[in-house]
Amino acid sequence: MKKIVINGNRPLKGEITISGAKNSVVALIPAAILADSPVILEGVPDISDVDSLKEILEIMGAKVEHVGETMMIDPTEVQSIPMPHGKINSLRASYYFMGALLGKFGEAVVGLPGGCNLGPRPIDLHVKGFAALGADVRNEYGAMYLRAGEEGLKANHIFMDNVSVGATINIMLAAVKAKGRTVIENAAREPEIIDVATLLNNMGAVVRGAGTDEIRIDGVEELHGTRHSVVPDRIEAGTYLAMAAALGEGVVVKNVIYEHLESFIAKLQEMGVEMTIREDSIEVFPSHDLKMVNIKTYPYPGFATDLQQPITPLLLKAHGTGELIDTIYEKRINHVPELARMGANIQVEGNMIVMKGPNELTGAEVVASDLRAGACLVTAGLMAKGTTTIFNVEFILRGYDHIIDKLTGLGADIRLVEEDEKN
Ligand code: EPZ
Repeated sequence: MKKIVINGNRPLKGEITISGAKNSVVALIPAAILADSPVILEGVPDISDVDSLKEILEIMGAKVEHVGETMMIDPTEVQSIPMPHGKINSLRASYYFMGALLGKFGEAVVGLPGGCNLGPRPIDLHVKGFAALGADVRNEYGAMYLRAGEEGLKANHIFMDNVSVGATINIMLAAVKAKGRTVIENAAREPEIIDVATLLNNMGAVVRGAGTDEIRIDGVEELHGTRHSVVPDRIEAGTYLAMAAALGEGVVVKNVIYEHLESFIAKLQEMGVEMTIREDSIEVFPSHDLKMVNIKTYPYPGFATDLQQPITPLLLKAHGTGELIDTIYEKRINHVPELARMGANIQVEGNMIVMKGPNELTGAEVVASDLRAGACLVTAGLMAKGTTTIFNVEFILRGYDHIIDKLTGLGADIRLVEEDEKN
């Protein structure tokens, strides 16, 4: 096990480049098995979720070459290997193998995804979508058993009871080879969904409307290999923009698509953060006398739930009282007691996180409960006076490519060390 040690209260300065999106690549990699020839993904982030998915692909018989940011996936020898447990449970996004295997082979046995610290994370909408396509779906012994009907999957008109990124993508993966036109209504609109649809269309699928709340998929017989570049990670970008606003003395965040962060950037501007927005980068200038704001998370294009924890240390630096409500995951609050240990005036009141600023944070020993909570604690540690030690950092390494190197490059005093090493 490792820990992160930060000596805080140092300015950040320089340039940082955003990597490919975790929440796209964890769907693109399973989607690649739908092709009957090699798929090349470029801009693949170096995160442990990618390593886990590569291992799962190889168990299924795919050949995978992962060099730097390029991953070549040759799916020609892939079989529908039952994976009721084991590596498949190590990350939530392994549920995309349900849609991909069902779409390719008409059957799948996939272990249920592990829970995590955001509260319940059901997959009933995924199951409802697969059943609507004519699949028999059984949930037994901690795994999902899926099988298409005799004539294969049949298109259908599916109305999503609520907006779900994972279910929207998973149904797309199953429907691309279903007979007829599938319509997904009340679909999620995240940029990662557009990225997956772009890959599928370049493989020969016919997916229209991704990024809107109605997606139409005309089933095809065959899908072939292609080359695809992963969309930049808007959540990684938001995380570094918040750090730059809190501690920056001139930080340029590169490889950013402004349109993917409009609601987040609007909040930074409402707080008084000075930025210059360019074609594919955003420069953040030193910010003083920030104003506290209220935040409510919503499905895209609303304020992303994944950015409520990363922006919180910046909010704590601002003047005034603020309320934050996460309408997607009400239990996404495990970072709050850790921030309080660092001297923050923050507490949970009902379904709200209430903050009062400004706060002078002090270093402490804290524990990351999930990926974005971990990023929040890194930001708080960078801001705090003294030394902060963060445990459970495996969460952070799951989703932030080279975070230690990237922050060191901006002048941070941050190290990843063995847990039993003296600070
Ligand atoms: C994706 O998770 C992201 N993960 C999450 O990011 C992100 O927080 C979430 O979307 C919301 O934007 C990946 O893309 C790998 P949902 P997903 O289905 O697809 C409920 C991170 O930090 N729901 O959009 O699992 C669910 O409980 C991670 O990178 C059902 O009720 O989220 C939640 O309240 C954390 N039934 C809401 O819908 C279902 O079948 C949205 O969930 C599915 C979801």
